[in-house]
Amino acid sequence: MSDYATHRRKALDAFRHLALDEVDSTNQQCLIRAREGDPGHLWLTANRQTGGRGRRGRLWASEPGNLYSSLLLIDPAPLADLASLPLAVAVAVHDAISAVLPPGSPPLEIKWPNDVLIGRAKTSGILLEAERLLDGRHALVIGIGVNIRFKPSETPYPTASLQEHGASVTPDEFFSHLFIAMADALALWDQGRGVADVMRRWRHVACGIGEKITVNLPDRSISGVFSGIDDKGILLLDRGSLGITPVAAGDVFFEPNGPRKE
Ligand code: BTN
Repeated sequence: MSDYATHRRKALDAFRHLALDEVDSTNQQCLIRAREGDPGHLWLTANRQTGGRGRRGRLWASEPGNLYSSLLLIDPAPLADLASLPLAVAVAVHDAISAVLPPGSPPLEIKWPNDVLIGRAKTSGILLEAERLLDGRHALVIGIGVNIRFKPSETPYPTASLQEHGASVTPDEFFSHLFIAMADALALWDQGRGVADVMRRWRHVACGIGEKITVNLPDRSISGVFSGIDDKGILLLDRGSLGITPVAAGDVFFEPNGPRKE
């Protein structure tokens, strides 16, 4: 085996995986295990969640047929370097989906910061949760849901499933791609040291750069042209005479009529 292959094998061997049947939330179960002293690098998957958690306190519908997975990391990087991790996770999810989508599918892109879209419809959700443990360690849980067989319908945004685009994979088969893609993305991210390499990969599949967008911030909405992301993953919004506004967190909405044609 080459040095590279040996190194990669070792990186993959560092992860454990526990497949569960029904849980409240795989994120919640990872946090419980962290509090009990788990050393991390633990993947939990479940067939069904009864209390799947989405962003902004929303519920994540979790019937059998889709992927519900969470990865527990302990002290993954200095706190100041964690902001770019969600973008590295999105690159991994994008890689895993691209391994199973048939050729000729609509564009597979990432919407800032970490939604993976097929034909501009949301296919996966990523929720990171962090907790400082009693012993001083920091637990970080990366929760990933992927619409494989089903897609939720009552959402404020269009949704897509892998199955409707001709990818016939089970959640277990899809997870085997994600397991490898995530190990590779974390190695590239390298505890935040590889952030510029991750951003290069992210930009390559970014959705909507150059388009007019609106960003919903906690207290207001701002609009402008999505001019790109910087090397730390911050969204750069060109607001004309107001200059470039950097945005660290918010929900992006594209113009209803899609990409600008000029
Ligand atoms: C979003 O709202 O976009 C994020 C959704 C994240 C859902 C996943 S499913 C597996 C993991 N466990 C949870 O309770 N939530 C995440």
